Amino acid sequence: MMQDFQSLDPDLISDSLKTERIGSKVVVFSSTSSTNDIAWSYAKNPDNDGLAVFSEFQNAGRGRRGNQWLSAPRQSLLLSVLLKKTNIKTEFFTLLCGVALSEVLIAISVKHVSIKWPNDILVDGKKIAGILVESKNDKVVLGIGINIHQQPYDFPPEISKAATSLDIQTGKICDRNIIASQTLNLMEKWVKIAQTDKDKVIRKWKSFSSLLGTRVGIEYNNQKYYGNCIGLDPESGLILQIEGGGVRMFEAAYSSIIKKI
Ligand code: BTN
Repeated sequence: MMQDFQSLDPDLISDSLKTERIGSKVVVFSSTSSTNDIAWSYAKNPDNDGLAVFSEFQNAGRGRRGNQWLSAPRQSLLLSVLLKKTNIKTEFFTLLCGVALSEVLIAISVKHVSIKWPNDILVDGKKIAGILVESKNDKVVLGIGINIHQQPYDFPPEISKAATSLDIQTGKICDRNIIASQTLNLMEKWVKIAQTDKDKVIRKWKSFSSLLGTRVGIEYNNQKYYGNCIGLDPESGLILQIEGGGVRMFEAAYSSIIKKI
């Protein structure tokens, strides 16, 4: 039976914000197509910079590369933040969101947090959160999905071994309103750092990276490549020392990690 979890409350979320920009407005929907779509629908008005859109449910939630993002009502934290791009490139937003989300997890004592390039947050090697950054003209929408209340049986069988949630990891029923505010606070922290000190974001990102220094397989434009991950170029992609010779860069937009070898 589905448990009746606490609802998201825009006032509770706003009350715990320490931000100047992100969460300037907080809206909560009970159901939407995708919070990214809603955030885009607010994009014309410059006063909406920093707007944070949450939804308890999405009927067309999307992930990277055309994947669906599914979650039952009130089980996850589904949010999108609308920002003007300033001097940060689109791909870099994915990195800084990854760092921010990793810090959110660590702040609530979750251990073994790592980032699987480009946009998966893992705990003990299992996916707990994903990031979908979309860009149009001078605006960006940072879409984030965090598994909160799922139990192993809530995940579809094909992903249940590869997925986890905050409740599973902490053994408690986590408070989504607190996690929502923390996420916005830490996103703002890392957006600010990215504006002045990109290397700091990259260093932090590398400290969480599960791929650097390991052998990986990558699918790029429908072709498979295997090699040792020797670097990350934040604006372009992942650098592989290809087995059999050569070094190659793979852009995030066209790549998927097929497996860690
Ligand atoms: C991925 O892992 O491929 C990215 C998943 C991103 C999912 C979030 S949920 C909130 C926001 N709205 C969407 O439709 N997608 C993102």
